[in-house]
Amino acid sequence: MTRSPLIARTLSSLHRARAELSKRNATIALVPTMGALHDGHVSLVRLAKKRAKKVVVSIFVNPTQFAAHEDLGSYPRTWKEDIARLAAEGVDLVWYPDVKTMYPDGFATRVAPEGPALAGLEDKFRPHFFGGVATVVAKLFTQVRPDMALFGEKDFQQLKVVTRMARDLDLGVKVIGGAIIRERDGLAMSSRNVYLSPEQRKTATTLFRTLKATSKRLRGGDDFKTVLSDGADAISAAGFALDYLEARHAETLAPVSSMIEGPVRLLVAAKIGTTRLIDNIRA
Ligand code: PAJ
Repeated sequence: MTRSPLIARTLSSLHRARAELSKRNATIALVPTMGALHDGHVSLVRLAKKRAKKVVVSIFVNPTQFAAHEDLGSYPRTWKEDIARLAAEGVDLVWYPDVKTMYPDGFATRVAPEGPALAGLEDKFRPHFFGGVATVVAKLFTQVRPDMALFGEKDFQQLKVVTRMARDLDLGVKVIGGAIIRERDGLAMSSRNVYLSPEQRKTATTLFRTLKATSKRLRGGDDFKTVLSDGADAISAAGFALDYLEARHAETLAPVSSMIEGPVRLLVAAKIGTTRLIDNIRA
């Protein structure tokens, strides 16, 4: 038996529903999403259910984190399927504001994250991105007022940025990371994978394969510069336009050039055709 979650579309209905959920001091977990839900999102919902009594999922395709040339207009929207999946998972409440509710006329405030948001990874290629993410996540936290919120390691730098922001702004929300969920062939699940042609979909597995091979060589003691340059060549040779393949400290995101400077995280971003994919693993 699945029961449809409550759906709130206005702040007043959200606040009413939230008051109901927190009766008897029930803990509340929030899973922020942009919809087009896949098993990666669902894994965060399941983690949330384990950690908290009540689970809220937000679905909001956030315009402020897309640049003008990016895919805001074509971003996949699968509302009916999303609600069915969330019902099957026993989610209590879906926060589904429209753009005018999130950003009313005259909206003029933007959170400007620094530290991990300026690590020279995603921020270098999507300079507008973390400001938009931080602004909407700060709003989601204050709107929903969850005890905790779950974010995937798939967006590794984003996880660091929202963790830092929640602490810096005393938002009172514990940020929890969830492992990356992959397709059977290793491709990290992403709402954007639907953009891939069958040919590109095959090529896309190169990213995870290269991350694994790179990690193995680094752990074996090979020189960082050589190994990363070989990895970059393999990704480009497969037909990707590479944005970066980098070894960073898993906590600070500072560049590292040996395993003893670690824990080391390998992060990659590359475009195939017009689709930009990201992935990362522990080295
Ligand atoms: P979205 O891309 O919908 O992702 C929502 C959450 O699911 C993020 O925390 C993301 O890291 C996680 N996720 C995506 N793919 C995953 C996978 N394969 N395995 C595990 N987790 C995965 O990230 C965003 O939305 C937005 O930037 C948001 C935080 C909602 C702010 O607008």
